[in-house]
Amino acid sequence: MALSGSNGPTLIGTRIVLGVTGSIAAYKAVSLLRTLLREGATVQVVMTASATKFVTPLTFEVLSGHPVSTDVFEAHQEMKHLSLPEQADAIVIAPATANCLAKSALGLGDDLLSTMLLTAQCPVIMAPAMDGGMWTHPAVTEHVRTLRARGTIVVGPEEGPLASGKVGQGRLAEEQKILVALQSALAPQRDWHGHRILISAGPTQEPIDPVRFISNRSSGKMGHALAEAARARGAQVVLVSGPTALPAPRDIEMVRVQTAEDMTKALFDRLAWSTVVIMAAAVSDFRPLHPTSQKIKKQSQTDQPFALERTTDILAALSAQRTTQLLVGFAAETHDLIAHAKDKLAAKGLDLIVANDVTTEGAGFGSDYNAATLIDRQGTLMELPLMSKRAMADAILNKAQALLCATASNQASKPVAERR
Ligand code: CTP
Repeated sequence: MALSGSNGPTLIGTRIVLGVTGSIAAYKAVSLLRTLLREGATVQVVMTASATKFVTPLTFEVLSGHPVSTDVFEAHQEMKHLSLPEQADAIVIAPATANCLAKSALGLGDDLLSTMLLTAQCPVIMAPAMDGGMWTHPAVTEHVRTLRARGTIVVGPEEGPLASGKVGQGRLAEEQKILVALQSALAPQRDWHGHRILISAGPTQEPIDPVRFISNRSSGKMGHALAEAARARGAQVVLVSGPTALPAPRDIEMVRVQTAEDMTKALFDRLAWSTVVIMAAAVSDFRPLHPTSQKIKKQSQTDQPFALERTTDILAALSAQRTTQLLVGFAAETHDLIAHAKDKLAAKGLDLIVANDVTTEGAGFGSDYNAATLIDRQGTLMELPLMSKRAMADAILNKAQALLCATASNQASKPVAERR
């Protein structure tokens, strides 16, 4: 992976928890935070009580733009020890004291940071800092060995002048070394680097008159989650979104559209650019044939229904025009989920369809959760139980990645003349 500065920001779309513990080197975590932000990461800082004696939480709060978590029992902090590590792509603890290393090695959880480490599934990087005599103590050596054996990445400490005035091994590793360790830990997760993904999201609105339109209940959350997940995994993403209440995701080009026609144009303009198209939008199937330029008065149209016409089936049209792009569609169904989804997969010439039963309790439109079945061209079914839309986005990207790999190896095994 490219180092900072050589190829633009390297952590765009990633979510990092920066743990700061009570060492004099805590002040260096301020500079590390700024570097992580400059590299494009979203950073949530967690401090131990003793770290706050060295640097105020306000410093980190102002720079990171997020409240700093310190206590597992803080008001409004419910389940932070679970939610923070679950949402993080990596945890970096810098500086990590001997106490922090010991608690983590022994599995103790007596504050937010140590409890978080007991639930974390993501890579954990610890950069110890302490006085030289402490670092070489057999207990510390043993704890570091235990942590490394469990997969924790321990960076440093380095040799040099220490706060005590002595010279020894105990200085916090150089910022660049911590950054490289983090980049390497995240590298396997950047599996979409080099891909250009076009994603549609949200509903469309088809005007009836200047104040009314035909639309649907789509919130855009699934498409936005896909865009964020793909970006975090290294892809370039363009998100074409119908009207939603969601803010533009960070570092993603977002094209806002209103009607199915606008969406068709925006997607076709970028089809040639893309390597993958994911159609998560809920496009209106019909639009008023003659939208009026003036508001329809209730007196004038009492029992006159207005005529409708079909909109373009964008996905089918994209499928007819595509060259090498992988095409992923969604099927929003209320009954006969698998049969309808398989029909759509075949009729629209897709590689993969995400079959969504929109009547599932707790899932579907507007919810932060979803449940679905993935169906590929071979008819292979993969059940995705109720999970966050972000987790589902990653599962869809995993399956799409597997399909791309299968296509690439099929192509490679064909004689050159037969390759598409
Ligand atoms: N879609 C599209 N253009 C349309 C309608 C749908 O591109 N005019 C896409 C959706 O984005 C989705 C897939 O086609 O990826 C299936 O959409 P869905 O609403 O489930 O089905 P429809 O094709 O509209 O069929 P029906 O309404 O009969 O279920």
